Amino acid sequence: MFEPISKIIFEKSKLSGSTNWLSPSNIALIKYWGKKDLQIPINPSLSFTLKQCHSETSVSYKPSKNGFKYDFLFEGKSKPHFKKKLDKYFERIIPYLPFLNQLSIKIDSKNTFPHSSGIASSASAFSALSLCLIDIEKSILDSTDFYIKSSFISRLGSGSACRSVFGPASVWGKSSLINESNDDYAVAFDLPEFFKNYNDTVLIVDEKSKKVSSTVGHDLVTNHQFKSSRIKQANKNLDSLINSFINRDVDEFIRVVENEALTLHAMMLSSNPSFILLKPNTINIINKIWSFRKENKNNTLCFTLDAGANIHLLYHNDDYKIVQDFIKNELLNYCSNGLFINDKVGKGPIKK
Ligand code: DP6
Repeated sequence: MFEPISKIIFEKSKLSGSTNWLSPSNIALIKYWGKKDLQIPINPSLSFTLKQCHSETSVSYKPSKNGFKYDFLFEGKSKPHFKKKLDKYFERIIPYLPFLNQLSIKIDSKNTFPHSSGIASSASAFSALSLCLIDIEKSILDSTDFYIKSSFISRLGSGSACRSVFGPASVWGKSSLINESNDDYAVAFDLPEFFKNYNDTVLIVDEKSKKVSSTVGHDLVTNHQFKSSRIKQANKNLDSLINSFINRDVDEFIRVVENEALTLHAMMLSSNPSFILLKPNTINIINKIWSFRKENKNNTLCFTLDAGANIHLLYHNDDYKIVQDFIKNELLNYCSNGLFINDKVGKGPIKK
């Protein structure tokens, strides 16, 4: 495991340069909801890594005489709104990346998906930034375990970000079912070919950022009346999901994925205080999907939800045309300004 590193003074000549990474968002099938200690999940989670929805981040760096300094620009503009989260991230990671104390860095970040789409960008943003920082470490030190340390550092920014470092799927959190899985960083999950050909169309039901942040939602799990049953359920669902992959059992895949999505929101509905992120149109779309599946036996279409009102439609490439027609004819009315984003399972981050 990574331990805090005591101070090392690096040669000045190595302390300037720049790097640039593209890192995708991800969608959890088994949900991370609830944490302990410093960004440690209460249960294992598994996600598909996406392809189109990503952040592109560049970091340029030069020596600093007065300790670590950073400037952050999002789409060319300074965003004071992100300062608190970034300050916390840097405070957490500097013990593991002490060379930062000798640097002044400039971060430039942008997303391929609209900022106001209601799509959480913390997974792609923190993984892209962490990959840049580990790339800088690599150019100064002969560090090993590039992706593992990037995932570890991403986790300290946002839990779900640690899974974005690997494609096409990734697992974070200790599980006896998955070799090498652990709570400190994610590991790549070897997805069978059939599931690599899955699409994720995100239906934008609400463009506004949500009223209750994921961080507050996670905290409400700590004393939740259903916490221990939720931990058992997530582990059982992970087992069933892995079996559905192995057996290419689409019905079982659908059952588990929808059960996880609805349980996530059931945990919010039953926390103290409780809160509701679903919107009437989220429920309308779910009912439409269930009717569609009744009428189209053997169709792979199912849904999952993140911590918001938007719906992720998951379906195999073979069903692309029929599902796209269904979206256009029956679901767009429920989307805010008819907005949706077609994405698919992707391979993971790329260095530019
Ligand atoms: C519902 O990773 O956003 O999307 O660690 O506090 O930044 P923090 O939370 P975050 O939580 C994501 C919750 C989720 C489920 C998931 O992605 O597994």
